[in-house]
Amino acid sequence: MARTFYVTTPIYYVNDVPHIGHAYTTVAADALARWRRLCGDDVCFATGCDAHGLKIQRAAAERGVDPATWADRTAQAFRDAWALLGITNTDFIITTEERHHRAVQQFLEAVRANGYIELGTYRGPYCVACEAYYTPDELLEGTCPIHRRPVEEVAEENYFFRLSRFTDRLLEHYDAHPEAVAPPGRRNEVLGFIRSGLQDFSISRTSITWGIPIPWDPAHVTYVWFDALVNYCTVAGYGTDPDRFARWWPADVHLIGKDILRFHAVYWPAMLMAADLAPPRQVFAHGFLLVGGEKMSKTRLNQIAPADLVATFGVDGYRWHFLADQRFGPDGDFSYEAMVARYNSDLANGLGNLAARVLNMATSYLAGGAPEHREDGPLAERAAVTGEAVAAAFEALDFAGACFAVQELVRAANAYIEDRRPWERHRDGDATGVAAILGDCLEALRIVALLSSPVIPGTGVELWRRLGLPGTPDDQRVPAAAVWGAGPPVVAPLRKGPSLFPRVEASTAP
Ligand code: MSP
Repeated sequence: MARTFYVTTPIYYVNDVPHIGHAYTTVAADALARWRRLCGDDVCFATGCDAHGLKIQRAAAERGVDPATWADRTAQAFRDAWALLGITNTDFIITTEERHHRAVQQFLEAVRANGYIELGTYRGPYCVACEAYYTPDELLEGTCPIHRRPVEEVAEENYFFRLSRFTDRLLEHYDAHPEAVAPPGRRNEVLGFIRSGLQDFSISRTSITWGIPIPWDPAHVTYVWFDALVNYCTVAGYGTDPDRFARWWPADVHLIGKDILRFHAVYWPAMLMAADLAPPRQVFAHGFLLVGGEKMSKTRLNQIAPADLVATFGVDGYRWHFLADQRFGPDGDFSYEAMVARYNSDLANGLGNLAARVLNMATSYLAGGAPEHREDGPLAERAAVTGEAVAAAFEALDFAGACFAVQELVRAANAYIEDRRPWERHRDGDATGVAAILGDCLEALRIVALLSSPVIPGTGVELWRRLGLPGTPDDQRVPAAAVWGAGPPVVAPLRKGPSLFPRVEASTAP
């Protein structure tokens, strides 16, 4: 049976519309999922929306709709964005779904049965106008951030999760599995936090109604983060399908932004341990995409929707940019000018130009027939190095590394053409020489199409078609199919076509 691979994105709050920050995590998860499918794995790729919590309850109330309707409506914007970007998620969860209610309630019961939930008193600042608790750091100069009115210090009876009991188990877990938090800087951050001492945290509220009731005390609603994290188990079948859950759990990797690392790498593994479940194999926290050096936010009006960029750069131009432009870990600044520059150099002048040159020459010099590559052609060695580098990069979630490795093969093939000048040989009547050079270039293009397809899937499919190959790159299996000369037999004539990546002028900024 195929190896399973379970990758997740965070579930995004439905009080926002999808922007390039959300898309960053989702596109990365998609490239990884596609790569794992190419490797032959059976992939579960989950994304979705987080619909509970006070923020959503308020956003819906402001618009005069009930929160469930509001959640479904805005979740649709996320579904649409992911469809636009060619995201191949296998599930899309909204936390209002019945299956999730069942999972959360079963999870709570399991944690309680093991003695890790107790009743306590939560004290904190409370805004009467909002009818809500705040944490001290949410206040603006000591006042409610919404009403700017003084808050009261009040107390509420809450259930608490006994996180403090898990300090040693978490440290042991991370000691035994150093790869479980990545990159390493994030791991140190997590270890430091655990060592500084863990506090129990409140997992229920009686002051709000929008959420999942605590099963043994329905006057309490489950705290939104406790509920949201369980989504990863819900998708795997927890609470509804034990066989499915046994097959998919634990998740292989949760991809998240660094802002929610503590929830994923401290609270979540402890919650799972408390329910007698295995922690995820890895939590990978990437940095933030900044715009003009600042975090995107609704209030700063600096949010960019993926569709705005896709209109100019195409889906693959979009995906390539965000995966190739910055390493998947540190923060990175988005700029339109840098996107134009990378697109033109990597895609228009690089891969696009290579494809156009090779296919134009092959179709006009060789009457449409695809010449054979040479067993030990000069590009063969470069292609082998690329195949290994791409595989190693995807293993390490180094998407920029994978893009760079593909680029190296593109550059080598373009340089090879410059060097061998097939047009001169054609003019001189050297048909054998021309066929040999172009045969090698076509094989290099096939390997580029295959290895880049997790990042730029549309281009992979189109190149495959123009090369006269059967099916799509998705039908192939790596590493075997990435070997020089290991492609399927050509079944159709070579085809030219419109430019894969028409140049973009810097002045076309939306
Ligand atoms: N609902 C919670 C997550 C629950 S997961 C069990 C949440 N949602 S969110 O809508 O705020 O999305 C958070 C995630 O979106 C971040 O962790 C990150 O993956 C992504 N990003 C949002 N803004 C981002 C940037 N500016 N840059 C990169 N990623 C960002 O928190």
